[in-house]
Amino acid sequence: MKCQILPSLLAADFGRLADEIRRVAGAGADALHLDIMDAHFVPNLSFGPDVVDLARRTCPALFRDVHLMLTRPDLYIDRFADVGADAILIHVEADCDIWETLRDIRRRGIRAGLVSRPQTPVGTLYPYVALCDEVLFMTVNPGYGGQAFMPEVLPKIKALRTAAPALDIMVDGGIHSETAAQCAAYGANQFVAGSFMFRQTDMGAAVRKMREACEQAARL
Ligand code: DX5
Ligand code: ZN
Repeated sequence: MKCQILPSLLAADFGRLADEIRRVAGAGADALHLDIMDAHFVPNLSFGPDVVDLARRTCPALFRDVHLMLTRPDLYIDRFADVGADAILIHVEADCDIWETLRDIRRRGIRAGLVSRPQTPVGTLYPYVALCDEVLFMTVNPGYGGQAFMPEVLPKIKALRTAAPALDIMVDGGIHSETAAQCAAYGANQFVAGSFMFRQTDMGAAVRKMREACEQAARL
């Protein structure tokens, strides 16, 4: 399975966002991960559709993977679709009709994804897998960048990989070269990395190195 690397814009320098988006595209990353927080579903605020729009205007060819940490993501699908989201991920713990919202995302021609917090049992996701193009396992408590990876999530990745061999399985939170390879060995194939990627002086080399380490770990 091909491994994909997605730098998270949350760790970028917000004073020069357009340059940071260009840095991600220039690094050969597979997509840009955009974290949207509402200060209700998680105890933090980040940014909204205008930043997704900025990414589209700055680097139209860079895939935009939009992670909605919102209590009511269903009310915002159109807003993010209109500014060029290529994938929209909603939390299984959100306060909305999950089936209907995933279907809405797909109706707009966008890849649909479902996310779970570290403590949420993997079985909660199974009823929806047929409606998902990707599943994201949070490997930290969502809300902030720069936290430590939680290895207790690894068995959930393995369980879902066994149940869904062809599904895109993503991890997000505390991901660097070693934790990414660990997740790859358990079945993940998409890796979000915020603080690790943005502190690199050569992001391109870090992307290539992480991709290779993951592909090797997945083969073992
Ligand atoms: C956390 C966000 C992550 C965050 C990851 O709630 O979903 O995407 O940017 O940051 P790092 O890689 O620094 O843990
Ligand atoms: Zn995220």
